Amino acid sequence: MATQHADSAGILSEAAGEQREQILELLKKAYWMEIETVMSYITNSVNPDGVRAQEIIEALQEDITEELGHAQQFAQRIKELYGVVPGSMEFSPEQTYLQPPEHQTDIVHVIRGVIEAEAGAIEHYTRIIEATDGIDPVTQDMVIAILRDEQGHRRLFEGFLREYEAEGLA
Ligand SMILES: [Fe+2]
Ligand SMILES: [Fe+2]
Repeated sequence: MATQHADSAGILSEAAGEQREQILELLKKAYWMEIETVMSYITNSVNPDGVRAQEIIEALQEDITEELGHAQQFAQRIKELYGVVPGSMEFSPEQTYLQPPEHQTDIVHVIRGVIEAEAGAIEHYTRIIEATDGIDPVTQDMVIAILRDEQGHRRLFEGFLREYEAEGLA
């Protein structure tokens, strides 16, 4: 076969244009997921009331910085692959599960919402890792590192949920 593999020609080569387009679409979705997570984590790090809410608030405050860093990494990678980082008019929200609960003492609602957001990120980033395998090792490497952060976030909030479950509150 005369066709060159993308991994030898490189993801920035003209021949890899179609593969680059596919990766760019995945990266744009990831970018929006991070932006929406930043929004949702800000609201949910401020709204909760109660003594037990403080742990959740502090954990989310830390995560906001990490998620913002992820958004910036995805944006930078979009540019490196000759893409254009989308403007805010292209944003459409999806995190129905992270809207403010009816009662601001409903911490379990927040915990479950965070777990769902992290699970969604883990699923999408795993897809990017698969799609870039042998094609774009640099994007893959970046997303593997981000995936680890999301797994850590998810594990932390699963731990919070366990405590509520153990007390019959979730
Ligand atoms: Fe993230
Ligand atoms: Fe996360």
